[in-house]
Amino acid sequence: MKKIAIVGSTGSIGTQTLEVIRKLDNFRVVAMACGHNFSLFERQLHEFSPEYAAMLEPNRELEVNFPSVKFFYGAEGIEEMLEIAKPDYTVLAASGAIGLRYSLKAIEHSKRLCLANKESIVCGGKLLLEKAKRYSAEIIPVDSEHSALFQLLRGDVRPEKIFITASGGALRDYPLDRINEVTLKDVLNHPVWSMGVRITVDSATMVNKGLEIIEAHYLFSYDEKDILTYVCKNSAIHAGVIYSDGTIKLHIGKPDMRIPIAYSLTYPQRAALKDFTASPLDYSLSLEEIDYRRYPALKLAREIIGIPSKQIAFNAADEIAVKNFVEGRISFGSIYRIIEKTIERIEPISPKDFEEVQAIDVLARKIAQEEVRKCSR
Ligand SMILES: NC(=O)c1ccc[n+]([C@@H]2O[C@H](COP(=O)([O-])OP(=O)(O)OC[C@H]3O[C@@H](n4cnc5c(N)ncnc54)[C@H](OP(=O)(O)O)[C@@H]3O)[C@@H](O)[C@H]2O)c1
Repeated sequence: MKKIAIVGSTGSIGTQTLEVIRKLDNFRVVAMACGHNFSLFERQLHEFSPEYAAMLEPNRELEVNFPSVKFFYGAEGIEEMLEIAKPDYTVLAASGAIGLRYSLKAIEHSKRLCLANKESIVCGGKLLLEKAKRYSAEIIPVDSEHSALFQLLRGDVRPEKIFITASGGALRDYPLDRINEVTLKDVLNHPVWSMGVRITVDSATMVNKGLEIIEAHYLFSYDEKDILTYVCKNSAIHAGVIYSDGTIKLHIGKPDMRIPIAYSLTYPQRAALKDFTASPLDYSLSLEEIDYRRYPALKLAREIIGIPSKQIAFNAADEIAVKNFVEGRISFGSIYRIIEKTIERIEPISPKDFEEVQAIDVLARKIAQEEVRKCSR
């Protein structure tokens, strides 16, 4: 029986992780943490009966309703929970740069980090990978493209190039001359994946793909020029690897996050998930070049790969810009401009610990807010 902790159990990845755990034998949730969604958290506590639970703020009602659960509060509380629960595996499904803090703690106390929180790598790639090595902890990516690459890179010589795909998001066919003024409703109408709000907007700008090539750079040690990106409209092809002898291997499958989540838990075994049985005939396979005029943020991400402070700023500025777009203060086109200006104003440096990462994150958010004010309508 593997003991599992889930940080971010109430989010899109967190709830899908619990769905997977319901279908698998040999996994027991011993600890779970959420932000503020107490009503869903209460249902999860009821169903999974963990020994430990953490929330960003105290909730008296939950404490009274679950007297046998030990509760922790705040970000420190989530760290403390991981320390005391000592789970075999931690699923990092929280959103945001704070995820790095939890990831760094998780690898001290878990043998495996099932990592969905891509910000952990974008903001602290080197820090996290070095610490994982020191603690002999495995990092198994949950992001579908990285899970695909992780699988493709097993058991063969090192490919010359790797590639990941993008669906192109909700605006992939939208007239280019009007794209800067689209509405939130247009942007949230994602053609393939069902995800949280920020990641759906990030799909339309391809900021998400930008974060993912940064993630691939650190996880698989490839230079920017050797990490290719293509549009795959039905998201059937998640990733591929290209060998020097002309061979290309593809990873194909249903666009459903429960599959890479399950793999991160069962690796090196594979679960027998009957609901997901697939036939190659289910998929038509087609890739297209990326049009960087439609997705300038992806080009920007390519330019800052390997410069940690700018990567942190890329993520922070996008979070601020997306929030302001969702709340109707700025146009869709301003998201890119805010990220670009914020990155320009951040010095190129390599933080030595989480505190330095956090300081750059705070500064980048402040700069991004200033840039938002310049763009506000
Ligand atoms: N969704 C996908 O398909 C997908 C695919 C690949 C990778 N990812 C990555 O996975 C991560 C989670 O994405 P998501 O779509 O599941 O996000 P989401 O639906 O917004 O869920 C975020 C989760 O994190 C919790 N949370 C928020 N702030 C927190 C904090 N400061 N401390 C602790 N927990 C906090 C939330 O709690 P409350 O809701 O209770 O406040 C919620 O449980 C992101 O890094 C994303 O990039 C997502």
